[in-house]
Amino acid sequence: MKNYYITTPIYYPSNKLTLGNCYTTVLCDAIARFHRNLGENVFFLTGTDEHGQKIAKIASEKGIKEIDYLNEIIEDTKELWKELNISYDKFIRTTDKYHEQTVSKIFDKLYQKGDIYKSTYKGKYCVPCESFWSDDQLIDGKCPDCGREVVEANEESYFFRLSKYEPALRKLYSDNPNFLVPVSRANEMINNFFNQGLKDLCVSRKTVKWGIPVSFDKEQTIYVWIDALSNYISALGYLSDDETLFKNFWPADVHVVGKEIIRFHAIIWPAILMALDLPLPKQIFGHGWLTFGNGKLSKSKEVEKKEVIDPRILNARYSSDSVRNFLIGEISFGQDGPYTQEGFLNSYNGILANKVGNIFSRLTGMVIKYNAGIIEKGNNEQEIDFNFKNKIKELKSECISNMLELKPTLAYKSALKIIDECNSYIDNNKPWELAKDENNASRINSILYFSVQAMLEAYTLLNAFLPESTKKVLTIFGIDKVQINEQSIFDFEIDKIKLEKNEPLFARLDIAKEMAELNTIANS
Ligand code: MSP
Repeated sequence: MKNYYITTPIYYPSNKLTLGNCYTTVLCDAIARFHRNLGENVFFLTGTDEHGQKIAKIASEKGIKEIDYLNEIIEDTKELWKELNISYDKFIRTTDKYHEQTVSKIFDKLYQKGDIYKSTYKGKYCVPCESFWSDDQLIDGKCPDCGREVVEANEESYFFRLSKYEPALRKLYSDNPNFLVPVSRANEMINNFFNQGLKDLCVSRKTVKWGIPVSFDKEQTIYVWIDALSNYISALGYLSDDETLFKNFWPADVHVVGKEIIRFHAIIWPAILMALDLPLPKQIFGHGWLTFGNGKLSKSKEVEKKEVIDPRILNARYSSDSVRNFLIGEISFGQDGPYTQEGFLNSYNGILANKVGNIFSRLTGMVIKYNAGIIEKGNNEQEIDFNFKNKIKELKSECISNMLELKPTLAYKSALKIIDECNSYIDNNKPWELAKDENNASRINSILYFSVQAMLEAYTLLNAFLPESTKKVLTIFGIDKVQINEQSIFDFEIDKIKLEKNEPLFARLDIAKEMAELNTIANS
């Protein structure tokens, strides 16, 4: 069985997660589920990035210990992932003991090798935020977090010899143009990184106490990026007593990350892995941002509350599938895309109510009306409409290829096209006309039988994207374990299944009414 390892970035628990934060995780979940449905052995990792000054500051302002603050907010994060049906295999916290031990060993290893050395950090420091910044991190010469003036800093720290790995990294990109995708954005970024020249990287702090101590210099803590990036291998047991998962799943098939953290994943992480003599991940996917209002979301600034709709509210009002539908279907994976309440609601009606929900109600209604609720295989094989069958097969292959090429938005659309095709098939064959002559009973039965087969093909593919609603329907048809098999088509065992009238999967929304209510909630 093929193994597949996919990761999200680990989240800063400095705020409760927003809809923007759900973006990477929902997309990764759809990809992970799809690979599972293809029969692969998937390991899907997510988690939280819990060290650093910011967390220490939040906890001290609340007058509580860091870990108490973290435990509470991580519960909330896990709850949200549950509501959104996120099927992670492991949730890593960088405060987990095993992770801290591995990071400490990694740091020691790099130091012993000579790839980490002690020197003096010269850069900028923001006093109110207690944060160090390099010149290229500043925005208009000011702190990127709070926008205030910064001062010169001078502090002893450990450095990672990133510059040493520049030739190897250049070679990586020239030999392997698909290492960082989408390629359009990647090329420009890579040139930017290399044009600036790679400087050695400060990887420890004397002033930040909330972190993993350097084992041989207790005054220093390991600065966030070595700590954070190492989660991808510590979660698999790297340098622990049991490296089985590491042996099975490393190197990762893909690290999916937002575009603002590509540099860390595309340059620093491969360099650290090279220094550790480990294989590199097969691919880094840098996705775009979900934007709010007219501006881009800057995650380090407080986003105006009224522009952000809480994913928990959307989940509760419209189902987790509605949030997944919007994030997967409306923002092309790799590009930026806006969130608007109207866009969200229109997508709900247009895709979920009119397509995904409607085909089930429509077919159930017809099976009840024209076939006494029973789906029968009968002599259908003789009546099969090969054009229809071939078209569905083509769309199924298109969906699978899109997903394997990491184009989940397109894969989702291919699966939805099966529903369109199914509707056209019914419209063209008009069972309601045929029903006027009782000699057509067998033909009607065939049309319905094949339409239901096509609908199930669509739901099987859509399951990774919309697990909640598709599961309801698949269960009615006795399909407990979803399997996507590219070779087989119209092979669902549905002979003699009796259908009963069901509640609509997605009731149509009154957009004006919902807009008004969402605006009231967002502004309250
Ligand atoms: N802790 C680092 C990641 C370390 S990984 C070794 C971090 N955390 S984060 O919480 O700030 O961001 C986590 C992910 O959420 C990033 O991939 C980021 O791009 C994503 N998003 C946060 N807001 C977003 C949007 N509005 N839209 C899409 N994704 C964005 O960075």
